[in-house]
Amino acid sequence: MLAVVRAGSTGARAAGRAEAAHGKDSAGSADARAARKAEAARTAAGAEARGTGKSEAAHSHGKNAGGAKKEVIELEQVRKSYMMGTYKLEVLKGIDLRLNDDDFVAIMGPSGSGKSTLLHILGLLDIPTTGSVRIGGQEINRLSEDELARLRGEKIGFVFQFFYLISTLSAMENVQLPMLFEGVGQEEREQRAAELLERVGLGDRKWHKPGEMSGGERQRVAIARALANRPSMLLADEPTGNLDSKSGAEIMELFKELHEQERIAVIMVTHDPAIAKYAHKIIKIRDGSIEKIEKN
Ligand SMILES: Nc1ncnc2c1ncn2[C@@H]1O[C@H](COP(=O)(O)OP(=O)(O)OP(=O)(O)O)[C@@H](O)[C@H]1O
Ligand SMILES: [Mg+2]
Repeated sequence: MLAVVRAGSTGARAAGRAEAAHGKDSAGSADARAARKAEAARTAAGAEARGTGKSEAAHSHGKNAGGAKKEVIELEQVRKSYMMGTYKLEVLKGIDLRLNDDDFVAIMGPSGSGKSTLLHILGLLDIPTTGSVRIGGQEINRLSEDELARLRGEKIGFVFQFFYLISTLSAMENVQLPMLFEGVGQEEREQRAAELLERVGLGDRKWHKPGEMSGGERQRVAIARALANRPSMLLADEPTGNLDSKSGAEIMELFKELHEQERIAVIMVTHDPAIAKYAHKIIKIRDGSIEKIEKN
């Protein structure tokens, strides 16, 4: 059953597309854009590196601070613009940002300020018009689309507002998808999927399909799936936007645990100050620029 889903060429991008196409429990056009952006990234022109100063968004916290922190991604003078006819719409206007494995940050800002665009660039779903993105020390401009897809599959886990689970697959099968794309064997896949579902508190929902789960449970499946390939970064675009406040708080407790215990950088976009409180830093975006970075 799982093999049927593997219609596309490269791993994570194919997963993103398959989810957007099949996910009957998903509805948001803004989030569906993430999957489409992967396609856009493939055809977009190579970015031009133009680094200047940097602002560091790194800070040590709690258990996670044990051992030296490691840079996961660095953006220098990242700009993103779209040509709308003859008009150039500048969406990101020179973002400098460095994130380490001990970061737990919330990105906040008004609607249309560029938060999702920034998250997509951090997730290698999109590339800048100009500027540099380095992940694990590698400059992404120099990578082929296949290499980018591999990096995305290995290093980055995504969680979206509308979950993007495949409605015809059970929780176990949904969680196995990224591992399938990475070529992990069946036995290991099943074992890890079961462990991950236990980890997110869904040990007794493994064989439920998305339509047989609550919103909070679906988001837990999406988080388990995001963790499948042991990413160094968990990116979440309004992960609690579709949940009530109790389920939202439970998801945040899970993020906190994962951050502290698995040493995974968490970068989430949220409009909700109660959710942003869980982060150690809040990056405030306004009109395509970082307005300020506040410590929580
Ligand atoms: N492919 C595109 N072509 C043209 N404009 C785009 C494209 N993608 C995004 N934009 C524009 O870029 C701006 C920033 O979009 P983005 O989705 O990053 O905003 P956001 O801060 O996430 O907003 P929200 O809080 O509403 O989700 C918006 O004005 C949007 O219309
Ligand atoms: Mg957005």
